[in-house]
Amino acid sequence: MKESFGYLPTGEECFLYTISCGGLTASITDFGACLVRLLVPDSRGNLADVVLGYDSCDGYLHGSGYIGAPVGRCANRIKGSCFVLGRKAYSLTPNEGPNNLHSGPDSYSTRMWKVIQHTGDAITLELRSPNGDQGFPGNALIRLTYQLDNVGGLHFLYDAVSDQDTVFNLTNHSYFNLAGHQNTDKAMDQLLSLPGRFFTPADAESIPTGEKRSVEGTPMDFRVPKPIGRDIGADYEPLHLQGGYDHNWEVFCNPCAQLYDPESGRAMSVSTDCPGIQFYAGNFLNADGKGGVHYGKRSGIALETQFYPDALHHPEWPQPITRAGERYHSETVCRFTW
Ligand code: BGC
Repeated sequence: MKESFGYLPTGEECFLYTISCGGLTASITDFGACLVRLLVPDSRGNLADVVLGYDSCDGYLHGSGYIGAPVGRCANRIKGSCFVLGRKAYSLTPNEGPNNLHSGPDSYSTRMWKVIQHTGDAITLELRSPNGDQGFPGNALIRLTYQLDNVGGLHFLYDAVSDQDTVFNLTNHSYFNLAGHQNTDKAMDQLLSLPGRFFTPADAESIPTGEKRSVEGTPMDFRVPKPIGRDIGADYEPLHLQGGYDHNWEVFCNPCAQLYDPESGRAMSVSTDCPGIQFYAGNFLNADGKGGVHYGKRSGIALETQFYPDALHHPEWPQPITRAGERYHSETVCRFTW
């Protein structure tokens, strides 16, 4: 199904594309290639829309929080908004103090993507990102496929190629609430498990210090599932948790995250080929979303599979670098049970 999703100030019309398979229904807009809606049943067959979103392209154009957005070329933070690749230094636009978050203000999620394939259970969108776009080198062709399977899986497939060595670190920034996006007060009652044994502590600007620290004995230990909770680690000053969870865990095994809503019985597991997963508890959310629902602080949680934040400044970590002409491919699967 394809339906109108409103008009941009330029007069251009945006569309919402719906795909279905195996009990799941997902809707994706060509404006920003954002995941707008994801319907998942519970054991009685009641459907809930488990991702936060906006009602029209206008919300995605003006809204905050990267809701449902594909983030690129480089997800999360780059310290000092600069990096060196080969023998050249590159500057990006700072958009969080001196640092660059999610590649800066000209986000891939506020651009029109081209739909190159739409079938009953999959959609592929394409974006051309020219040399120098956001400050990154290389003319890049980026493709994102959302694919449903018949065993409750939503696959995010990223493919990209550039004519120069460049940075590719693409992720999806959906906020999940398995109780249904409108039940904002229940998001923190979800049980989370993260099998990662290490996380990367960050400074007050959320830039990793370079250390890989054991989760043992810290609020970051999610190796046994536990409710996320509202009063998150306020007592654990050394981790800069005052804002709440917003950190990167190592991907130790797959699934690398599992989420469970005890009331509905809906569960989601996340598997990926990425080395890291950022668990962000929606600490700064403040948006008027679908159906007039206000998404305040901690109304949903993002589980962003990616290279480690600021990896470009830590050569000891896996590097988000793709050589000229080589193919970048990455896949993350969110699998639902109910
Ligand atoms: C980051 C948060 C940031 C958010 C923006 C997350 O990926 O880790 O620090 O506030 O994106 O929506």
